Amino acid sequence: MKLPLTADQELDAALAERLEQMREEERTRIARELHDELGQLLTCIKLDFVATTRRLRELKTPGDVVDRLQSAIGQIDLGIAMVRRIATGLRPPGLDHRDLGGAIEYEARRMAAISGIAMPVAARVTESVAAETATAAFRVFEEALTNAVRHAHASCISTTVGTTRRGRLVLYVSDNGVGIPGRRLNGRSLGLIGMSERARKLGGTLRITSRTGHGTRVLLTLPLENA
Ligand SMILES: Nc1ncnc2c1ncn2[C@@H]1O[C@H](COP(=O)(O)OP(=O)(O)OP(=O)(O)O)[C@@H](O)[C@H]1O
Ligand SMILES: [Mg+2]
Repeated sequence: MKLPLTADQELDAALAERLEQMREEERTRIARELHDELGQLLTCIKLDFVATTRRLRELKTPGDVVDRLQSAIGQIDLGIAMVRRIATGLRPPGLDHRDLGGAIEYEARRMAAISGIAMPVAARVTESVAAETATAAFRVFEEALTNAVRHAHASCISTTVGTTRRGRLVLYVSDNGVGIPGRRLNGRSLGLIGMSERARKLGGTLRITSRTGHGTRVLLTLPLENA
């Protein structure tokens, strides 16, 4: 049986959640800035160096000068690769080596093994999904799945994720559990708010529907082209 939380424990949980959210926002911002600003700058420097090398060759500059520049270009390439690695490292680790559909399938398999709850996934992501959109969708999926595991007493949590021809990403997570008590659904719970916030920030929508005894459905849609 789950004991009700004291007011202090609820506050602690709310603060922990908010801190995690802030950390995540900060990670996303740093990742984006690293990738866009520093990545862009290094690319420009590289282009300048490549053009200079070409010109020096035309001017029959001694080989060792050109070699030095070539070596510098090699170092810049390493720098560009490093920026990419660091920037992607700040994204959810599941998304590092997999596309969104693959990351969701992998996470569902992992959680199913831990919880013993069936977690079928149908993934049909045919359009390319921007990193920011994929991160938001993956985080919403994680929260919906965690909620269903923690609160729903469900025996099955199904997920569908896909892209539509009309340029939207659609994520649907449903469980066959007890449903969200109305009081909770209308309240200001941080996990549920966090999901809505992510959708809103990217111009998408989040709909949570639930009926006592008839499970919960979380439907997220995000535009593929960020306006
Ligand atoms: N799938 C679900 N089935 C049943 N109840 C749910 C489900 N999802 C959410 N709830 C109810 O809604 C409440 C609010 O969810 P929310 O994610 O905002 O907070 P939490 O999971 O309790 O805590 P946190 O996410 O901050 O760790 C939960 O405490 C739970 O009572
Ligand atoms: Mg939650």
